Amino acid sequence: MTARVGTNALLNMLGDWSVGVGATLHGRLADSLRQAVETGVLPAGSVLPSERALARSLAVSRSTITTALNQLKAEGILEARQGSGTAVVGAEAAAPAGATILPGILGVGHGIDLAASTPADARALPTVEVDLEALLRAGPRHGYTPAGLPALRDAVAKRFTLDGLATELDEIIITNGAQHGLALALKFLARPGDRVLVDDPTYPGMIDMLASLDLEPVGLPRTAGGIDVGGLRRLVEQHRPTVAYLQTSVHNPTGAAALDWELRSLASVCDELNLTVLEDLVLADLRYDGSRPAPLAARVTRAEVLVIGSISKLGWGGLRIGWLRAPTSISEQLVRARLTADLGSSVPSQVIAAGVLTKFDDVVSVRQPTLGDRAQLAIKLIDELLPTWSVLEPQGGLSLWIELPAPVGERLSQLSARMGVTIATGAAACVESDGASFIRLCFDRPEVQLREGIKRLAKAWQEI
Ligand SMILES: Cc1ncc(COP(=O)(O)O)c(C=O)c1O
Repeated sequence: MTARVGTNALLNMLGDWSVGVGATLHGRLADSLRQAVETGVLPAGSVLPSERALARSLAVSRSTITTALNQLKAEGILEARQGSGTAVVGAEAAAPAGATILPGILGVGHGIDLAASTPADARALPTVEVDLEALLRAGPRHGYTPAGLPALRDAVAKRFTLDGLATELDEIIITNGAQHGLALALKFLARPGDRVLVDDPTYPGMIDMLASLDLEPVGLPRTAGGIDVGGLRRLVEQHRPTVAYLQTSVHNPTGAAALDWELRSLASVCDELNLTVLEDLVLADLRYDGSRPAPLAARVTRAEVLVIGSISKLGWGGLRIGWLRAPTSISEQLVRARLTADLGSSVPSQVIAAGVLTKFDDVVSVRQPTLGDRAQLAIKLIDELLPTWSVLEPQGGLSLWIELPAPVGERLSQLSARMGVTIATGAAACVESDGASFIRLCFDRPEVQLREGIKRLAKAWQEI
């Protein structure tokens, strides 16, 4: 596998390249790239993003990029690689060891965690009685359920059907969280080197996943205005992505929730372009207004849409239960693919998840208003203590997307960690856009933690 470098990672490596030495822009770019290679920051074997992606993210013309790369090829620093683009000369670098963004969000472990956008603990789970007899009867006696426990698959299929997406049990695969479902689907739909259109910013775990599967992200700028359907059409026509990964309900990290008319117009463009979509509905149950517009998959007539869901945000991430909805012909192949890496999800977790789904309306009716109130509390605290920050009012989900008055998200995250509170940087969620002025803050925390966490953030901000 090649070590493909993402555009954001390369931007970090190049720093303020445009004010470097060299009279021309291409000269400065070549100089900064040369330095990155000479210092080992950009190791031998690394494959650069496409020229088009580089031109877009560095905000220069394509010819500036081509000239700079040609200069380094002539110097023997870079080389063209058949079928995979431009690489740093030398033995192929080891593929990245795995996720690079998620460890910084999930692996923090000390202080007040406002970084992971997930419930603080298992408290949101309703009381579910697990009867061992029922457990043994619930599936094959050996306990291996590659497609999932029938009772849970059925409960998930019924929920989709209630939401306007008629679904049969056979179309549902239970996965180890949505993350597993996303990986299964992407490996099935795309090949290394393919392009994948993604919201920008997006769910940070997707950025890690695309890098590890050697897929090239094409960022669809996501603003407070929601899904830019016209922009999507332009990007698809220009870049011909193999698949589009879209959060069509509540969006992580902005908290924006797509409206019915937006989904209708998105569906008609997806049909027209015959676009394959991976639809992420992980946050769909967490719209504060309680609305449940029918998913994109229910609205298309021609486009293929695979749907991903999870119990993690409504209930608890520790169950590691998610699901993937795909046409039966595809779901059978996905189950076979899944068997090469794991033999099925935990049966006790599936039994608990099925229990949660039987109490779905009760859980949602507690969770939605609680989250809405907690979001308002966090916004109020920020208004009082950090008045120069600008918070996008979320319509759902667990987090606030906050714009700082300067591009210091990374510094703030470092300083606040030292003061015992962790946040996610905006850059962790950005594909090509510049996330340096943004942070993501999860407010689904006990009130005392949220108050103390924001107080500590204000202290860190004073230092900046
Ligand atoms: C949009 C989105 N998709 C997928 C996931 C992965 O969820 P799971 O815990 O079910 O693997 C997350 C988790 O934060 C998410 O926010």
